[in-house]
Formats: sequence, structure tokens, C-alpha cells
Amino acid sequence: MKEVTYHGLAFEPYITRAEIDARVAELGKTITEECAGKRPLFICVLNGAFPFASDLFRAVDLPDAEITFIRLKSYSGTESTGTVKEMIGLSENIEGRTVIVVEDIVDTGHTIFKVLNDLKEKKPADIKVATLLFKPEALVRPVKPDYVGFEIPKKFIIGFGLDIDGQARNLNDIYSLKDEKA
Ligand code: IMP
Ligand code: MG
Repeated sequence: MKEVTYHGLAFEPYITRAEIDARVAELGKTITEECAGKRPLFICVLNGAFPFASDLFRAVDLPDAEITFIRLKSYSGTESTGTVKEMIGLSENIEGRTVIVVEDIVDTGHTIFKVLNDLKEKKPADIKVATLLFKPEALVRPVKPDYVGFEIPKKFIIGFGLDIDGQARNLNDIYSLKDEKA
């Protein structure tokens, strides 16, 4: 795998598609076991989570599982703004249901914290969080994702749904911003 360049910044290969596939299969199996007999509603947080949600949802072997999509944006460039907009797009009634929120990455935790607060008002039976990536060192909100693909250090990541100013979401593997001093 080669380096890629976006906006004049060099990114190096970090997590391969094969590693993602293997991890998603494991998470799918865990969710299948833990949600047996339930009717979980997966809520994919657009835009970044769409490839992960697509793979994870299909790795879950539950006939009554459903998926829907919401949107909420908090990021511009390589630094979190910390400002979170409103959650939009949920038309389903989630009262009494098991909900699994699917995120691409939990960084500071502002985004998922806001989503969880908004969803809790709608009285689901249970809310879980599945995230492809988790940066525990960056977390400033009291949230703990239930299903984590990969815990990573405070690096800026692109690919497999994660973007830099809207680009690079279509990379099949995950890349990290190269250390300028390296
Ligand atoms: P948080 O609100 O700081 O947890 O950030 C969550 C959102 O910021 C994610 O859904 C991403 O859209 C974006 N984000 C956080 N870290 C990265 C990164 O390393 N690369 C690309 N986007 C990121
Ligand atoms: Mg996102």
C-alpha cells in the first residue's frame, strides 16, 4: 500500500481493509449473540459511518434487525470544532426498542454524547454505541462505546468513510496523517 496525498498532506497506510473486515466480522458475531431474540434498530450517523454501518449490519445475523440513518456534523478540517449541530433525520419510533448507534469514530465524544442525549429522550429500551475507531486519549465527554473496532492514539485518520474536508471517504483502507518530522 502506498502513501496518499490530500490537501497537500501525506497519509500513510494504517489499518488495512482485511483487518477491518476481520474485526467487523467479530463485532457482528458479538452483536448477534448479545441481541438474540431482539429487534435491534441500527442508527447510522452520516456521513462517515456509512461503509462501516453497511458492513456491520450485514455481519449481524438477526432476521428482525433494521437500519436507519441520521445526520449531525461537528468537524471541519483536522481539528474538532467542539460545536455540535442538531440531530436530524430520525423518523422511526424508537420507544422500547434496542438501538445501536453506529459511528465512524469517537474522538472528543461531543458528537456521540449529543446523539445519545437526543435519542434517550425518545425512550428506547436500550442504547448501545458501535464505533469503527475510538481515540480514548481525546475523549472529553463521559461516553463509553460498547462495540469498538479499533482503539487508536490521537492521530488524524482518513479512509473507509472518514474524510478530510469531504474527501477520502472512498479509500478502502484507513490511512493516518504522517508525522511531519518523520
Ligand atoms: P467528536 O465529536 O470529536 O467525537 O468527533 C466525531 C466526528 O468527528 C466523527 O464522526 C468524524 O466525523 C470527525 N472526526 C474525528 N476524528 C477524526 C479523524 O481522525 N478523521 C476524520 N474525521 C474525524
Ligand atoms: Mg462523522
